[in-house]
Order: sequence, then C-alpha cells, then structure tokens
Amino acid sequence: MTTLSTLNKFKKAGTKFTCLTCYDSMFARMMEKAEIDTILIGDSLGMVVQGHDSTLPVTVNDMAYHTANIARSNKHALILADLPFMSYVTLPEAVANSRTLMQAGAHVIKIEGGSELCELVTTLAQAGTPTCVHLGLTPQSVNVFGGYKIQGRGDEAADKLLADAKAVVAAGAALLVLECVPAVLAKAVTDAVAVPVIGIGAGADTDGQVLVMHDMLGMAHGRVPRFIHDFLTDDRNSAHSIEGAFALYQQSVREGSFPTEQHQFS
Ligand code: KIV
Repeated sequence: MTTLSTLNKFKKAGTKFTCLTCYDSMFARMMEKAEIDTILIGDSLGMVVQGHDSTLPVTVNDMAYHTANIARSNKHALILADLPFMSYVTLPEAVANSRTLMQAGAHVIKIEGGSELCELVTTLAQAGTPTCVHLGLTPQSVNVFGGYKIQGRGDEAADKLLADAKAVVAAGAALLVLECVPAVLAKAVTDAVAVPVIGIGAGADTDGQVLVMHDMLGMAHGRVPRFIHDFLTDDRNSAHSIEGAFALYQQSVREGSFPTEQHQFS
C-alpha cells in the first residue's frame, strides 16, 4: 500500500511515481494491477464524467460518491480527493467537507490555491488530515484566469508561485500538484520543498506525474494539450488494452521516458 511515507522515500531516492485520475471501481482495479502509485478523484469528473465545460458544478456529494467507489476496490494506491469549487471558502465549511471526503475513503484532501490556504492546511494537518495543494493552472479559478492558460511565466509570477509553494509546505501541506507551469519553475519548486511534488504539464523534474485517465487513453476531445500522451494506441502497448496503457504509463514515468521535452512548456 502506497502511503505518504512511501512517496517521501521516493522523493529522497529520486524514484519517479505515478498518479492517475479515476472515478469508478472497475478502472481502480485495473490501475491496481498496473501498480499505479496514487489515484486522484479529481473534480475533473465534472468534465469527463458529467459533461460540464468546467469543474465548477461539481459538489461535495459528487466527490464523496466517486471517492467511495474507488476506496471500496483500491488496496494499493494512495487516494487523493479534490474539495470542489467553493466548498472550502470558510474554515468550518472546509473542515466539514474534508471530513466527508476522508470518511468516504480519501487519504489526502486536494485544494487549489496559494498562501491564502495556509490556515486551512494547518488546521487540517492538526486534525489528522493531510493536504495536497494544487498550484499553477488551478481549474476552479478558470474565470479569474480568463481561460485555461499556462501560469508562472515571467519573474514576478514565478517568484509568487515559488513563495506560495514554500508557504503552504511550511504550513503543513503534505504534497503539491503543479499544473501547466514552465518546466524550469517546476524544477525550482520541486528542489525547494521537502514534500513530493506531482506535475501535469510541468516537465520531467517533478517527483511524480499525474494525467487525467480519459486523456491518456486518447479520449480527450477538442484541442489536445501538448502534455498529453495517448498510452492506449502507443505501439509499446502491443495489446492496445486499457490495462496495458496504465502499465506503460507506470513504466514510462518510473524509467523517466515520460514526459519528454515535447510535453513541457517554457
Ligand atoms: O481534477 C483533476 O483531475 C486535477 C488534475 C488535472 C491534477 O486536478
């Protein structure tokens, strides 16, 4: 069973680890066979499962339902679950909603933002609930960003992201996710903090990698972001099976052959 201490050991040893989003039991079992290290019940389920055009409509009940589906069949992966949009604005609300997801089977609560989350991160840590703070392109803030855009470009934005990362780690965050930031910045953050950092569109130097399951199975629709690789139709997955795609992703991240320069931003 993967735990936070497993991931901390991976970071120290330089062993790259995997994360995939997952929303139901059957796929969780397949991920277990492929020994995917961590599973994220992402609020991306609003887009890939529910058909919305953003993550904003997802509720705590939706997250608890999908988290429980995964928890029932998962024996191997560390389970991260997203607190959805506007469910952690006040401390009491955030604590109550984190309890719901932890009782549904999450091991770590993921929240989006920066240093404004420090008080919440500390409160949850003191209450036995580890957090993963998602920085960079945080999809719940799509209306603030004016679209899904690369974040952390330019000295000022990069310095702010690095300072936010250090602040939430000092407050007690157990993990970080960095989404769609220049690879150089992702490396600087990964080197600067003691906790494991998981990247998506953040280059090869983060400690772990995460992809949305549907994307890495070639089911992305519309414009396919450059950080996605289709592991289902990859020739190395000779059976072109879903289990084979998960196993190839696991192997590629571990050995360092994914992501490559073509998947990263400068
Ligand atoms: O909700 C999600 O799937 C995520 C990943 C893109 C990291 O937050």
